[in-house]
Amino acid sequence: SGDSSVAASLLGWYDAHHRDLPWRVTPGAFARGTRPDPYRVWLSEVMLQQTTVEAVKAYFRTFVEKWPTVAALAAAPAEDVMKAWAGLGYYSRARNLKACADLVARQGGRFPDTEAGLKELPGIGAYTAAAIAAIAFDRPAAVVDGNVERVVSRLYSIETPLGETKQEIRALVEKLVPETRPGDFAQAMMDLGATICTPRRPRCMLCPLREGCSAILSGDPERFPVRLPK
Ligand code: ADE
Repeated sequence: SGDSSVAASLLGWYDAHHRDLPWRVTPGAFARGTRPDPYRVWLSEVMLQQTTVEAVKAYFRTFVEKWPTVAALAAAPAEDVMKAWAGLGYYSRARNLKACADLVARQGGRFPDTEAGLKELPGIGAYTAAAIAAIAFDRPAAVVDGNVERVVSRLYSIETPLGETKQEIRALVEKLVPETRPGDFAQAMMDLGATICTPRRPRCMLCPLREGCSAILSGDPERFPVRLPK
């Protein structure tokens, strides 16, 4: 946890401007600081692996209405789960989803609460394990997706071309992750990348990180992340 001012600015912005997404709330839990349900976080992250937020919303709602818990999903016939998945694509995700639900339900219905434990489960790779560990369990995991790569490559005006910079970016994110609210920090980075630090025409005047952003100083934030010529 190196530069705490980045995390503090980002979390302040997130409190005011976060997207209201259905997996960020647990029905019946209204207390501030309540963790989201790990089942809902897992389900949403698997759906979001290759599908946009807008497309996932309706499927997510349908799934949690039909199967509100991991035990309910485990009890469902595989055929019903595949049918409900129809349209989302990448059907190996649905098969892994069912296998994972069956396994977690057999083990007592609780998801592992560490990155390493989560990575053992079917359909959960490095990115998804980090996202679930951070969001559901508030572990200080470095969650690096395409949005986060863009935000960080601009913040530090990284000249290394995209595709060769994953380790560099991961190391920088590890230093930025705060000890408090690492789950909100991960989601705030995603929201910043999706709504402010967009690939084209970033809205830098609204950005909570503008004062420390190296790409803004360069005058051409859109130049980052740098791409290799095709
Ligand atoms: N993309 C992947 N995970 C996400 C999340 N939890 N919120 C918004 N976008 C995401």
